[in-house]
Amino acid sequence: MSPELRTPWRIGPVEVPTRVVLAPMAGVSVQAFRRQGRRFGAGLVCSEMVSCAGLAHRNERTQSYLLIAADEHPLSVQIFGADPDAMAEAARIVEAAGADIVDLNLGCPVRKVTKTGAGATLLEDPDLASRIVDAVARAVSVPVTVKMRRGLEAGSRAALAAGPRLVEAGAQALALHPRSATQMYSGAADHALTAELVQIVGVPVIASGDIGSRERAREVLEQTGCAAVMVARAAQGNPWVISEIVDGASEAPSRAEVAGELLAFMSETARELGERRATGFLKKFYGWYLGHGRFPKPFKQELLGLATVAEVERRILAAEPAAADVRDRLLAGAARGDETLLALPVSAHGGG
Ligand SMILES: Cc1cc2nc3c(=O)[nH]c(=O)nc-3n(C[C@H](O)[C@H](O)[C@H](O)COP(=O)(O)O)c2cc1C
Repeated sequence: MSPELRTPWRIGPVEVPTRVVLAPMAGVSVQAFRRQGRRFGAGLVCSEMVSCAGLAHRNERTQSYLLIAADEHPLSVQIFGADPDAMAEAARIVEAAGADIVDLNLGCPVRKVTKTGAGATLLEDPDLASRIVDAVARAVSVPVTVKMRRGLEAGSRAALAAGPRLVEAGAQALALHPRSATQMYSGAADHALTAELVQIVGVPVIASGDIGSRERAREVLEQTGCAAVMVARAAQGNPWVISEIVDGASEAPSRAEVAGELLAFMSETARELGERRATGFLKKFYGWYLGHGRFPKPFKQELLGLATVAEVERRILAAEPAAADVRDRLLAGAARGDETLLALPVSAHGGG
């Protein structure tokens, strides 16, 4: 019997209230995305991956900041790198900044990362990967987790060879996206491999890949015995999928809700990234939110042609005036006095 999606589980001492984890996505998982994910029922949210080299050097030209708010916990912060000492140091910084879990990236297929020996490359070197987990687990008191792909090449079973050793070295949960690095996002996630991993490790396994509905989430929980499912692309511009998965059928959001949610997201993101960076960053979100047949295609095109966030806001409000109330309600709920923002540099490159 698979667990109900709204039942708590644990990663070490950290209680996770639901079985849905909002995935780490570089260039997507900003604070507004994580907070929204919590609001819609994700039990755990993850930051984008943070470069441990970036943390050590504080190279501000290539980085923006990771801001952690009080209402997004439990939060997992992901770090990547290939040097055990540098990873341990990065983990200490991340823990001090308020992360409840430190997650290690063993899945990134992006060349810029793999050529440094980090990301998915580490799956082919379980000795080094274990030394990294061990060094990080000794450095922090919060739980350490690992997110993996299946391996580098198609059909690889490297994650199964490495998994038990990573647990032995101190990993308290494993997330598996069962595609190879060379596969990137083509083909299907092979959750038969997730089921095998569950059989051979004694820690919770989180299944990632192609989970975008309650039905699919239940199937994967049932067929693999995993502790939780992770949702990535399906939640882009569509936080409603999280509540659908956690709580069952809900009505499709109205246009005012969609537009209001987008406006609140834009406002929060502009605050987090600054107006100038937010302008470019937000462009991909317009299609994600306004797609799904919610708004006509030319409307999205029109937004992409506008120069500032403020202009896009005005245009959305002209098309959907009722969105203003939705946005104001959301922002009033988000502007909590107890919010604490902590700064950490974030890498612009990622994947997993
Ligand atoms: C735009 C994008 C960025 C991603 N960045 C990361 C990352 O920084 N770290 C990571 O472990 N996985 C990353 N991933 C992988 C996802 O977390 C997830 O494992 C993968 O997309 C499969 O899940 P899905 O089918 O639900 O999208 C990224 C995926 C996407 C689409």
